[in-house]
Amino acid sequence: MCEYQITGGRPLAGQLTVQGAKNSVLPILAATVLADGESEICNCPDLSDVTATLEILRLLGCKVQREGGTVRVDTSALECSHIPQQLMGELRSSVVFLGALLARCGSAQLAYPGGCELGPRPIDLHLMALRTLGADVREMRGGLYCRNKGTMRGRELCLPMPSVGATENAMLAACGCPGVTTIVGAAREPEIEDLQNFLRAMGAQVEGAGTSTIRIEGGHPLHPARYTVMGDRMAAATYLCAVGAAGGCVQLHGVDPGHLTGFLSVLEEAGADLHTGQNSISMACTTPFNGVRPVRTAPYPGFPTDAQAPLMAALCCGTGTTMFVENMFSSRYRHVDELMRMGADIQVDGRVAVVTGRPLQGARVRGTDLRGSAALVVAALGARGESRVSGVRHILRGYENLDGDLRSLGASIQYI
Ligand code: EPZ
Repeated sequence: MCEYQITGGRPLAGQLTVQGAKNSVLPILAATVLADGESEICNCPDLSDVTATLEILRLLGCKVQREGGTVRVDTSALECSHIPQQLMGELRSSVVFLGALLARCGSAQLAYPGGCELGPRPIDLHLMALRTLGADVREMRGGLYCRNKGTMRGRELCLPMPSVGATENAMLAACGCPGVTTIVGAAREPEIEDLQNFLRAMGAQVEGAGTSTIRIEGGHPLHPARYTVMGDRMAAATYLCAVGAAGGCVQLHGVDPGHLTGFLSVLEEAGADLHTGQNSISMACTTPFNGVRPVRTAPYPGFPTDAQAPLMAALCCGTGTTMFVENMFSSRYRHVDELMRMGADIQVDGRVAVVTGRPLQGARVRGTDLRGSAALVVAALGARGESRVSGVRHILRGYENLDGDLRSLGASIQYI
């Protein structure tokens, strides 16, 4: 069994360049099929979710090559629009191939997507968006069968809630629809802007990403493009929480602090000394985090749900009390029982968790989803003694080199 062996209580120090963003590169890789030819994606992190997405592209008939942080995808031999369960089930983001393949091939046959188990994760908004654009969408035999019977064209579609995935799927499908599509109530995450920038580099007419109204003039032929993916704000948030738990002084490069506003203000309230540059964040922590005002997760620019677990872990090692309200997913406290094995004081009632900081003890703990597993690493860095953290396969889905990066900052962490 793969696990991390961590000895806590050592302050972190040094500089780090943050990996490319997982939640940007996955829809961007799917978007490469919108154009015939070879696109080049730079700052592409080496993650198991990326590997699974490249496998999907190969299955569709694309040629895929990786050289360090650069991935080349040649879609000129794309010949299939069917993605089976064993690939779809690897990750959630595979669902955005629906919109991309509808735009490129006029049809898509996909199994249901997988991804972290955070409670029910329906795709009703994705299907509603595609149906609104005129796609014939059928759910049968445990799969999704979508076709453009010549009925797809630009229209106005309203998302009742700003789903990231549904916004991305609608943007990709709309690129293949003649006329203007207006997505009202769109997600505003920075990853949506990154996708828009890639689509524009391919010649698409898209505007409004970052706001709740996105406008796409579709039906124009697109061309392959070269694009550099933004830095991963959730990886950066995890490293900053590690400094909050273990103490120390770290400078992160390659990440836009503007993408973490709702999060950084909470760290400052917890006692962190923060300084930001255009594409860098420095943080020093000489005392453990203190409790902060209630943390309620929300769509961007609210507090990011993906930072909830790592922040909770850092606050567990601190002083004072903090209330969390997880509004985005109904079952995103699976790390709590494991943190309590380390001596954490956490009371959970439904979507509310109340954390009271106190010293933690190293223990053997098991991660069960991406951010929850990263949170256990954060807690182990702040705890006294040795911890063993299993469930590393979840971490490899979203962090390129978590243990190596932390070791470069002086942490005692070994991959076993
Ligand atoms: C994206 O997931 C991210 N994943 C998630 O990060 C992140 O937690 C989430 O956005 C919210 O910020 C990727 O980008 C690959 P949503 P996504 O559609 O697109 C409900 C990580 O750790 N909903 O915005 O799946 C849904 O159940 C991952 O990196 C519907 O009800 O999120 C959830 O409660 C985990 N119907 C809420 O909306 C739908 O059709 C937000 O989901 C779609 C979503």
